[in-house]
Amino acid sequence: MLSVDFIVTLHQLTIITIMGKYNFNSFIDRSHSDAIKYCELSKWFDADDLLPLWIADMDFSVCPEITEALQQRLSHRIYGYASVPDDFFSTITDWLSRRHNFATSPEELSFIPGIVRGIGYVINHFCKAGDKIVIQPPVYHPFKRLVEGNNCIPLNNPLIRTENSYEMDLDGLEEIVRREHPRMMILCNPHNPIGIQWSHETLARVADICAAEGVIVVSDEIHGDLMLQDRPHIPYLSVNENARRTGIMLGAPSKTFNIPGLVCSWCVIKDKAMRESFYGWMEFNEFNSPTCLATIGAIAAYHNGEDWLNEALEYIQDNIDFTCNEIDRISDGRMKVYKPQASFLVWLDCRGLGFSHEQLIDFFVKDAKIALNDGAMFGQEGIGFMRMNIATPRCILQEAIKRIGDALAKIKK
Ligand SMILES: Cc1ncc(COP(=O)(O)O)c(C=O)c1O
Repeated sequence: MLSVDFIVTLHQLTIITIMGKYNFNSFIDRSHSDAIKYCELSKWFDADDLLPLWIADMDFSVCPEITEALQQRLSHRIYGYASVPDDFFSTITDWLSRRHNFATSPEELSFIPGIVRGIGYVINHFCKAGDKIVIQPPVYHPFKRLVEGNNCIPLNNPLIRTENSYEMDLDGLEEIVRREHPRMMILCNPHNPIGIQWSHETLARVADICAAEGVIVVSDEIHGDLMLQDRPHIPYLSVNENARRTGIMLGAPSKTFNIPGLVCSWCVIKDKAMRESFYGWMEFNEFNSPTCLATIGAIAAYHNGEDWLNEALEYIQDNIDFTCNEIDRISDGRMKVYKPQASFLVWLDCRGLGFSHEQLIDFFVKDAKIALNDGAMFGQEGIGFMRMNIATPRCILQEAIKRIGDALAKIKK
């Protein structure tokens, strides 16, 4: 829990000139809102006085039109079973066309209640026990859990680390696919935890390799709207015919507009047979039913949230630049930030500090008193790394940097 004094200081620091239409500098106390990021610190870190820069939601207030739409619905006073509103799918197809130049049609879409659940449904429907599924660590940790939890076997095709980023091991993928005959591959596009934008060429090669052996590619594009510095997002299904024939794309307004608690996501399948089979099964199980607030928040976000999103992305980029410079300064270059091309998570290479991985975790929790995601949770390739969520007001980030700097200075002594 943040101390009262500290919260008061943050409120004072918040009174900074607001440059755009929206205020991302404003500190909002989330400690009594059941936010996992704040309320589960003790459970995961065994300490409740940490600055929380871990779980991937933003500390920014959503665009006011989303709140207004939800409030309007709440004022009705009856919260019965909800159908998917007529304009839900056309709102998404318009967004994908306008924002990502990606053409799809409402019948190719289904509602899914969250991306992780969506991947779980896809595995349940298309795989049987013992099937192999390719993942590419270091990668969003629930992928492995989803595979193993559904009695399938994860096949690792680790990313290759380069000087400033990572590449996909396409030759490794081809070999694994030919040798092991996996049923599926889970692609993270863009890639969490490093924020990599996969190129058209890379995605097309994935599609060709996988389609040649009949491997279904599930592309998790939850971070796709969060491309930084005007980079285009490249939806997997846009890259070629092989991707459209064997691919399943999952997306959501949740990360984009900071509404993951509304639990609203969607799925696009171009191939008719695959679509009919999966969407039919979803329908029988009622897995495609939203709560009465989910689609309302999503529609309001896609219709009215674009200016907010553009400003949020600029703020996030400034926070990333600030973090890179400051981490370099306070660590004398011993810690390195992998600059993300998408989203608000930065991958900190802490190997230069010379700690064992356990010492590294202790350093952040016990000495610096900040909560980050342990890099090893994304796969053993993440040993020596930490993931930091910088979608927070600058005053929080400044405090985090100060804490890390002070903790490093103590070690030097
Ligand atoms: C790549 C990726 N997929 C899925 C999710 C979670 O999505 P949901 O809450 O819709 O299950 C996250 C959240 O951090 C993520 O980074």
